[in-house]
Amino acid sequence: MDLKTDLRLCSLLPLFFVHWTACSADASLETNHITNFLLEVGPPQNLQIIDHGHLGELHIQWQAPIFFKTEDECLLWYGLQYYSPDQKRWKRVTTKLLKFIVHFNLEKEVKAKVQSILTGKCINGTELRSVWVETALHPSLQGNVDSKIRNMSCFYYNRERLECRWQKGNKVPSHGYNYYLYYWHKKMDHALECSNYIKSDGYNIGCNFAGAYLIEFTDLNICVNGSSSHGNMRAAYFTYELQNIVKVDMIDKLNLTLENKEYTWNGVWLPSKSHIIVWNMKFNT
Ligand SMILES: *[C@@H]1O[C@H](CO)[C@@H](O)[C@H](O)[C@H]1NC(C)=O
Ligand SMILES: *[C@@H]1O[C@H](CO)[C@@H](O)[C@H](O)[C@H]1NC(C)=O
Ligand SMILES: *[C@@H]1O[C@H](CO)[C@@H](O)[C@H](O)[C@H]1NC(C)=O
Ligand SMILES: *[C@@H]1O[C@H](CO)[C@@H](O)[C@H](O)[C@H]1NC(C)=O
Repeated sequence: MDLKTDLRLCSLLPLFFVHWTACSADASLETNHITNFLLEVGPPQNLQIIDHGHLGELHIQWQAPIFFKTEDECLLWYGLQYYSPDQKRWKRVTTKLLKFIVHFNLEKEVKAKVQSILTGKCINGTELRSVWVETALHPSLQGNVDSKIRNMSCFYYNRERLECRWQKGNKVPSHGYNYYLYYWHKKMDHALECSNYIKSDGYNIGCNFAGAYLIEFTDLNICVNGSSSHGNMRAAYFTYELQNIVKVDMIDKLNLTLENKEYTWNGVWLPSKSHIIVWNMKFNT
């Protein structure tokens, strides 16, 4: 087979991209390295956004481009972009892996796109990018938006006890409804429901996490959904890191005498990102 017929054969193959090296097994081509450069690379296949029920932690995954053979002189990367509605911009990641785990707020649409990127000698030291493939995960819009809880507040009292409270949505049935809280963090196999609700008139208005296994410095994903005699109510999602929502109980009085002056200490809220406990000091002369 001479060079001409071989090339023609290659171009007849219904490949997504021209993969010259696949055709170069013929001895006549072995020495002709110029024709071995890849000219095109296919996009990743089967891009999916998978929700394992972790209340916001999603797995974006895909497979290698079709007909792609890894070669010593070729590096295959993936360029991933996902839309962050909170920051209103696309975030970029370059990876060699076939999966990326990222946190989203499931109340909003999740969009992701990925492309193949080839670098290395197989493309003569340049860079080759495929077209993008894109997918989206639409939020579940069950229930009226006004049935969603309002004013969620969670505090981690004295770094010991987590408590969340909420108010009912603006539009809830007069009776026959309730809200439910589910939570998940990365050390849990699956989301669990609150086991100790704070109730008012029989309705769940908060959760006391006493006895729950919680950890600091990691995302704690929370979903509060609900159901009523008219069907489901709109779910709300939150993510906290415990050390950021510490609230220190008030110390009634700390007797401190310094240079004949008396100081009183008051515990303060700790909404900051720091995990240093700050105290306010009132000075009485
Ligand atoms: C490969 O790259 C070298 C250096 O940039 C260049 O001189 C050569 O023409 C390229 N070959 C092809 C086939 O593009
Ligand atoms: C509760 O949420 C509503 C909006 O959903 C807001 O207008 C109101 O100020 C909040 N109340 C408190 C006490 O934060
Ligand atoms: C609330 O969310 C949890 C966790 O995703 C789910 O198991 C449950 O079925 C949902 N309940 C309602 C009423 O939507
Ligand atoms: C504070 O300490 C002084 C000196 O020990 C003591 O006389 C006083 O009763 C203390 N005050 C309080 C409120 O404990």
